[in-house]
Amino acid sequence: MMSQPPVRLPLWDIPTRIFHWAIVCCLPLAWWSAETERYDLHEWTGYSVLVLVATRVVWGFVGSRHSRFADFLVGPGAVLAYLRGAQAHGAGHNPLGGWSVMLLLSLLLLQAVSGLFNSDDVLFSGPLYYWANSEFRDAMGVVHDVAFNALLALVCVHILAVLYHQLRRRENLLQAMVKGAAEGREGRVRPVAWWWAALIATLAALALWWGLSQAPTPDLTW
Ligand code: HEM
Ligand code: HEM
Repeated sequence: MMSQPPVRLPLWDIPTRIFHWAIVCCLPLAWWSAETERYDLHEWTGYSVLVLVATRVVWGFVGSRHSRFADFLVGPGAVLAYLRGAQAHGAGHNPLGGWSVMLLLSLLLLQAVSGLFNSDDVLFSGPLYYWANSEFRDAMGVVHDVAFNALLALVCVHILAVLYHQLRRRENLLQAMVKGAAEGREGRVRPVAWWWAALIATLAALALWWGLSQAPTPDLTW
């Protein structure tokens, strides 16, 4: 009898993988479009990041088991134990990786939200620029700069950490983030249907569109 290959349950469901690789495309695009002053592209990339992160946050509560925050966020004691060499018990993010995911998500959110209040003072202003007073706009301008540098630093650490686990510890992290599952990186329960995430993303996009359409526009009469 022919032996069948094992059927693996995904560790990372389809929405989590789409979220990850879409963010990987958006960040360089946002950077490049800002540097080359293509603000229409910059704006839409930023909105995409907002919708992606909002969807991922909701998915962190209602999504598949290993994408839920409750599956990978542990207390400081467990993080310290992991740093001292204890084995991670969960199938997904390790105790330290789980908190770095939260930091990455928070910085992405801060970056995109601060952009809404930002302006280059010549070509383009974010949709909430005219809603805020000048101190708040200035503060958001600083946040947009600082958060980006923090993001760059954290992304470098993230990639180095992935490479360390992949190459030194021979764990199939990358394969699992591409294909869903790989040897040693498998899910333990069936994933939630992907179209729930599509529905959440659609609602998030509609909420963003409605919210921004309420924003005040510049008063050009004088
Ligand atoms: C723009 C840069 C990047 C950002 C902002 C980023 C962000 C993230 C986030 C937020 C997660 C958690 C996924 C989730 O639970 O939703 C993650 C996981 C992961 N990322 Fe990235 N990432 C970036 C670039 C990369 C690159 C270039 C690679 C490939 C070398 C990579 C490989 C991975 C892998 C393998 C995981 C799963 C880790 C695990 O199994 O615990 N990432 N990333
Ligand atoms: C995660 C998404 C975003 C990333 C990674 C990002 C990144 C950047 C970067 C690297 C710069 C150049 C910083 C500088 O030279 O000072 C910049 C500038 C800018 N961004 Fe964003 N941005 C994002 C979202 C947004 C959004 C949603 C808006 C508004 C709709 C926006 C509006 C602006 C404006 C107006 C500037 C020019 C600021 C200036 O000239 O001082 N950004 N952004």
